[in-house]
This record gives sequence, C-alpha cells and structure tokens, in this order.
Amino acid sequence: MSQFSPSFSAEFDDINQEIVLSGRIRPSSPGEMAGVVDVIRRSLDSSGNVIYLNIKRVTHLNMTAFRCLEQILTEACKTNIQRKIIVVASSVIAWSAPLFQTLASSQPNLSVEIYDSAFYPGQTFVEDESFIPILRTQTKMTWRHEREILPRHGMRNGLSIADICCGIGDFATLIKRQFEPARLVALDHSKRSLDYARRVAAEFGLTSIEYTYGDAAQMLLADNQFDFVTCRHSLQIFDRPDILLRELFRICKPGGRVYITNEKNSHCLGEPHSESIRWTYEQVAKLFSHFDMDVEMGPKSRRLLNDAGFDDIKVESFMVTNLDGDPRDFADVIEAWEDVYAGQMAVRRGDPPDFIRRFRQGFKDHVLAALHPKGYAGWPIWAASGRKPY
Ligand SMILES: C[S@@+](CC[C@H](N)C(=O)[O-])C[C@H]1O[C@@H](n2cnc3c(N)ncnc32)[C@H](O)[C@@H]1O
Repeated sequence: MSQFSPSFSAEFDDINQEIVLSGRIRPSSPGEMAGVVDVIRRSLDSSGNVIYLNIKRVTHLNMTAFRCLEQILTEACKTNIQRKIIVVASSVIAWSAPLFQTLASSQPNLSVEIYDSAFYPGQTFVEDESFIPILRTQTKMTWRHEREILPRHGMRNGLSIADICCGIGDFATLIKRQFEPARLVALDHSKRSLDYARRVAAEFGLTSIEYTYGDAAQMLLADNQFDFVTCRHSLQIFDRPDILLRELFRICKPGGRVYITNEKNSHCLGEPHSESIRWTYEQVAKLFSHFDMDVEMGPKSRRLLNDAGFDDIKVESFMVTNLDGDPRDFADVIEAWEDVYAGQMAVRRGDPPDFIRRFRQGFKDHVLAALHPKGYAGWPIWAASGRKPY
C-alpha cells in the first residue's frame, strides 16, 4: 500500500493485475502526483497484457490529477498497443465513468467498465420496483418482533447507526422513531428504492435520515464510525457475503455491534396443505440459489459473524406468523413473493408452465393457511449480531 497524502493512495495488486486508486485526489500541482504516477508506471512495467485501473473509491479527482492520469495512460496505450487497460469505475461516483470514457474514445486499447451495473445475478429483480411491495409488507411484519429483539443485541437510544442495504428505508424510519439515534445513515444501491425512501421520510417529516446511494461492498463511509450497523435480509442476496461483512466490520466502531437478519426459506410452513407449501418453499431456496443467492442463510449467521472476526456473537430466531396482528398483512407478503418469485424469477430461469403452476399453488395454499380461521402460516427468520473487538 502506498499512501501519498492523508487524502489519497495508490497500490498495485499483482494477483489481480489491478492498480487501485482511492480517496480525494486533489493535488495543487502535478508534483503531488509523483507517487501515484510512479506506482502506475511500475505496475505497467510489471504487468501482462491486461491491466485494470480501479477507481471505484476515488471520491474526488481534480483536473490536475486527471491530466496526469490522462498523460500516463495515453503514453502506455501508445507504447504497447497489445496491452489492454481497463478502467473500473462504479456508478456510485457518477462523474468517473464519463470522464474516462472520453479518454477511451481516443485510445482503442483503453476501455471503461462500470462494475456495479451487473454485479450480482439477481440484481435486476432486487433493484427494480417489483421488490418494493415485498419489502414494504415484510418490514411491517418483522418490526413487531425486531423492536423487542434489537435491545438484546445492543440497540439503545442515542447511538450512531448505519442501515446498510436499507431497501425502501422503512426500517430506518422505524428505528428513527423508536430509538432516536444521534446519527442514522441508510445506504442502498437501488435508486428506485432510495427515491421511495426519501419520499416516505419527507411525508413523515423525518428530515435527518442520511439516505445514501452506494455499494455496500465498496462503501465510501470512513472506518470505525458507527455504534450499531444493521444489514437485514441482504447478506443472503450476495454471492460473496464475506466481502459485505468485511465492510460492515470496517465501518463499525470497536466495541460496536453489527446486526444481521437472514431467512431459511425452505422452513416456511403452513396448515392446511402443508405438503404443497413445503414443496414450494423448497423450490424458492433452489430458485434463489440458481441466481447465486442463499435464502437458507439464517442458521449460518453464527459462522459468518465468527469468520468475519466478531466476538460476543448472539443468535436468535423468530417466526413471523399469521397470528401477528392482521393476517391480511402476512397474506400480502406471500402474494408479493408469488408475483416476483413465480411471475418473474422462475420465468427468467426458463421453468415450464406446469412447474410454475405447481410453484404458484404453494403460495396460494400459504395465503389460504394465513387467512383460514383455523389455519397457521409461518416464516422463520434468524437475527444475529456480533461485537467488533476493541
Ligand atoms: C432483500 S432487500 C432488503 C432490504 C431491507 N434491508 C429490508 O429488509 O427491507 C436487499 C437490498 O439490498 C440492496 N443491495 C443489493 N446489493 C447492494 C449493494 N452492493 N450495495 C448496496 N445495496 C445493495 C438491494 O437494492 C435491496 O434493497
């Protein structure tokens, strides 16, 4: 790692053939870029035919810095036309890709990739509007349990809190009202969900929640700044949950806690028609796994937190049921699942009509179980937290 000023750094990762720049690169003269230029030159000299320039964590870049990079990249493209230089930008820093795309348009062996435009297989399902009804009704059902559970995991009034992968922000608004945090950041990578979150918060007159567009696996939040970090129902949609946990660990203060919730979908249950319901939820787990998402993660929470370096790990599970308040709420959740899982994901996987019909039937039976005067419907969730050691 080479650190050139308190605000920016450059390093070469020779395993991935990647030059990683990060921070606020705002030199007042080209001389201040000497260290960066040196790392890039040495990396180019020792690299093979493809080299990556990762700028995902460059939050600021002034023209002095850009001109230096432009010069060295142009020179490198001209001296070795066989070598491909790939600039890896992120949509989180909106200006970065267009800036380098201009340079790429004049250098055929330089290209720009926006890495988070297709960075996990289920992204399109999770980030577009179709997920909003699912998230809205889910949180309504789980909050009844979680508001009791959270204090056992260290939640109390006045903390500095981050809700990572906040979705439509409803959990953040509930936290805000119930626990009056000193600071509350809510971050997500879905612009549609964040728009929704900001609108709802404005309607409720909640002005101080910091809704932030970002990538949970590459956050621009500084180290060690939150007492309590939450990440609900989201580790399970990452194909590399360990990377996300590393970030949650990083932004948490020593002595602070990271709280996660995850499901085990194949254990959703109901009576009557238990067999049909069981079959459908086993298929849900397989369907998510097809898109590299693990909705069976709940019981793995203890191991994941342990492997990520947390101590004082607490794990508990709870069952959302049709007896929690209005059974129609639970039926709404199940219907929203059916719409997305059977209506979109199974279709995308290419499942035949007979399968989809049977798949849908299990959801319909689950709704029936939820609404039946003698029925019972359940959805099990694991809530776990770990402390970042001092
Ligand atoms: C299943 S939803 C859960 C949302 C919310 N925590 C809840 O419980 O209602 C997963 C969320 O993770 C977000 N997400 C997925 N990948 C992300 C990433 N790399 N960075 C930030 N958010 C991401 C999605 O946009 C989505 O809102």
